[in-house]
Amino acid sequence: MESKLIYEPLDRVAADAVALLILEDAFEDVFEDGGALSTASAGVRTWLAELKSSGEFSGKPAEIAVLYNPPGWAAKRLIVVGAGKHEKFDSAALRRIVGSTVRIWKQKGVKTLAWSLAPIQETSPETSQKRSGANAAEAAVEGAILGNYETDVHKTDKDSKSLETFYIVYVGGTADAELERSFERGRILGEAQNFTRDLGNEPSNRLTPVVLADQARAMAAEYGLPCEVLDQDRMMQLGMGALLGVAQGSTEPPAFIIVRYTPANAPASTDHLALIGKGVTFDSGGISIKPAEGMEKMKYDMCGGAAVLGAMRAIAQLKPSIPVTAIVPAVENMVSGRAQRPGDIVKSLDGKTVEVLNTDAEGRLILIDAITYARRLGCTHLVDAATLTGAIVVALGHVNIGAFTNDDALMARVMTAAQEEGEKMWRMPMDDDYKELLKTPFADLANIGGRWGGAISAAWFLKEFADPVPWVHLDIAGTAWLDDAKPFMAKGPTGVCVRTFVKLAEAWQ
Ligand code: BES
Ligand code: MN
Ligand code: ZN
Repeated sequence: MESKLIYEPLDRVAADAVALLILEDAFEDVFEDGGALSTASAGVRTWLAELKSSGEFSGKPAEIAVLYNPPGWAAKRLIVVGAGKHEKFDSAALRRIVGSTVRIWKQKGVKTLAWSLAPIQETSPETSQKRSGANAAEAAVEGAILGNYETDVHKTDKDSKSLETFYIVYVGGTADAELERSFERGRILGEAQNFTRDLGNEPSNRLTPVVLADQARAMAAEYGLPCEVLDQDRMMQLGMGALLGVAQGSTEPPAFIIVRYTPANAPASTDHLALIGKGVTFDSGGISIKPAEGMEKMKYDMCGGAAVLGAMRAIAQLKPSIPVTAIVPAVENMVSGRAQRPGDIVKSLDGKTVEVLNTDAEGRLILIDAITYARRLGCTHLVDAATLTGAIVVALGHVNIGAFTNDDALMARVMTAAQEEGEKMWRMPMDDDYKELLKTPFADLANIGGRWGGAISAAWFLKEFADPVPWVHLDIAGTAWLDDAKPFMAKGPTGVCVRTFVKLAEAWQ
């Protein structure tokens, strides 16, 4: 889909549909000076005024009305969409409304959709900054790109249709650098999230660890980032025993992916951010095998890694001022005569030994070697994303990302970034008491801590390797995959964490 920002009166926009948002408590805005319909034909204005007085459309959330062949307009349809009350309306709401509108109308065959934004929303004193011009352009184009995404790439006979062109029409406004920048940011972020979703959507026979590395390399080459991939021999030389223990059961070799971003101008501080993502391309559980039911979903066990790569794709274009290194340990967790057994003891890159009491707790085993590697590269702040535990889904459902840390300041930065980007996140406790759960008489640590508080003992396991470097762990097992489609989003991978990661890097001072 192509997206474009244009400055034209609505009646001149040639599109299959022009969409116009109406706030329940500021309905009249559209008619006023600077409003989207201030210069519209009498026919269009009367239609909308009558629609309002009929009581059939008042701007409540999700209300829709359509006018075919608006008199004097180039577009085929005018769609008015209710946005509810203004105090509940922010960029997250706009992103969703645009996404839903795109999903409804593309399915009816609309190929070109124009979304109108009017400067009046910017100047009206009581409206929040978030839905004013620039931020609204960003949220709208991002919502359209996310909403247009479908997961049926492997269907030869597709039911889904897609939008070809999405315009943002800045009615009555003039070309504006801030607006252009925000529009670009929205486009870049939307496309980066869809890149992440594409990786998550690929089945494990098509996306092996080596293929994931190839995809990372291609992305990095396209956006001018250096990419390095360590192969199995190199990992053996280095001593990544924890990662290799997981990989040994599969005939697919592991790959350790490193993508770097260095700002053009020397940064003010010596801070260096590492983004680490779990890249298990399939998680059968290994010898501690998972039940058959739902096992097909374990193709999405690399969504943390995909989020990190998607974030790098956007970071390369948005150019924040902090160096960022992405690390994705990629493996397949399989059952075979060579597979790791429960009770095996492995030596991590860090030197600590781990007793593998459950081969299905593999994510933490590959992540500790990645964390140690990031520390050796000199990274000063570590943030990881991983579909790490079923326990986080029990605790937080499919709504919030579970966030864990050893450093309040870094957590505050991550939380702020998440909040600003509308990604829900909830901080989990990390009391020392939980550490006891990982004790074993046979090695430095056990890789599981028992049934209760499973997401926390998993986080504690990682912390043992991150300390004392500031670190935040994001458990996205509940949020990386949508089981039921939303009006604004297809079922399947969500691309969660991309926005938070990019914002975190951009906001770094
Ligand atoms: N990849 C899974 C976690 C997961 C579960 C992700 C459900 C998405 C949805 C992880 O590798 C795993 O198997 N974790 C185990 C840990 C247990 C053995 C301590 C789990 O959560 O059951
Ligand atoms: Mn597992
Ligand atoms: Zn897993």
